[in-house]
Amino acid sequence: MAYNLLKGKKGIIFGALDENSIAWKTAQHCYAEGAQIVLTNAPIALRMGTINKLAEEIQAPVIPADVTVAADIENLFTQAMEHFGGQVDFVLHSIGMSINVRKSIPYYENNYEFTHKGFDISALSLHRVLQTAMKLDAISEWGSVVALTYIAAQRVFPDYNDMADNKAVLESIARNFGYFYGSKKKVRINTVSQSPTRTTAGSGVKGFDGFINYAEKMSPLGNADADQCADYVVTLFSDLTRMVTMQNLFHDGGFSFTGVTQAVIEQMEK
Ligand SMILES: NC(=O)c1ccc[n+]([C@@H]2O[C@H](COP(=O)([O-])OP(=O)(O)OC[C@H]3O[C@@H](n4cnc5c(N)ncnc54)[C@H](O)[C@@H]3O)[C@@H](O)[C@H]2O)c1
Repeated sequence: MAYNLLKGKKGIIFGALDENSIAWKTAQHCYAEGAQIVLTNAPIALRMGTINKLAEEIQAPVIPADVTVAADIENLFTQAMEHFGGQVDFVLHSIGMSINVRKSIPYYENNYEFTHKGFDISALSLHRVLQTAMKLDAISEWGSVVALTYIAAQRVFPDYNDMADNKAVLESIARNFGYFYGSKKKVRINTVSQSPTRTTAGSGVKGFDGFINYAEKMSPLGNADADQCADYVVTLFSDLTRMVTMQNLFHDGGFSFTGVTQAVIEQMEK
């Protein structure tokens, strides 16, 4: 059901690769709530994924941008503002990649070239996007930026590997940039810490099936899926959450504050 929560709003959505992507669902939900969208992804993802199908469905232009390249981000904001005829109201950062994870290199043996690359794509990119947006004055007053994260930023999940460090920095950038962007332009910045979700990036984590089943059992409401995440992000882009900024918001069915559940105790007693 749609409520027109984003009527008249314009936004940029990073990270829709295929129909499982959290960004894909978020773009669909934002469109259903009345928003106009510009989609973006890395040039290689545009070739390998199916983003054009989504673009057609929600009548959104696709502007390629590699988040590690400052000129690409500048071009993206400039073109998006030309397309919209003004500033954007919201931005979704839904980007993550670790070569150490992909190659199953254990955390304690990480290859630092891979670590740097993953850090640049997964964490520093949020700073780059925000710095560029601020320089171009591309985000409207009371605009909203959301980046997706995972609870491995706070607690150890061994196979999440160097992505845990990337997420810790991502959340810190949201807080620190949130202070400056809030004071200067009343732009708010939050991270949403989502349950494990079956997507290309998610399934790349070793032992993902065990991981997702465990989280399901450890969450009083069960795991939140990508559509539910999209609903939550819509509320953060809407005017109903104007005073929320610099927060890491758990969207995980209660997992983050649960010590143990009956289901897990029963499993342990078997
Ligand atoms: N799937 C999960 O279990 C889960 C849980 C919590 C948080 N998250 C986070 O959600 C976000 C979205 O991931 P997803 O699960 O939808 O997977 P996904 O694989 O569909 O999305 C990851 C996206 O990052 C993009 N990307 C990678 N390198 C890039 C670059 N250089 N420039 C621009 N874009 C680049 C990819 O093309 C892809 O679209 C990520 O930040 C991820 O860490 C995922």
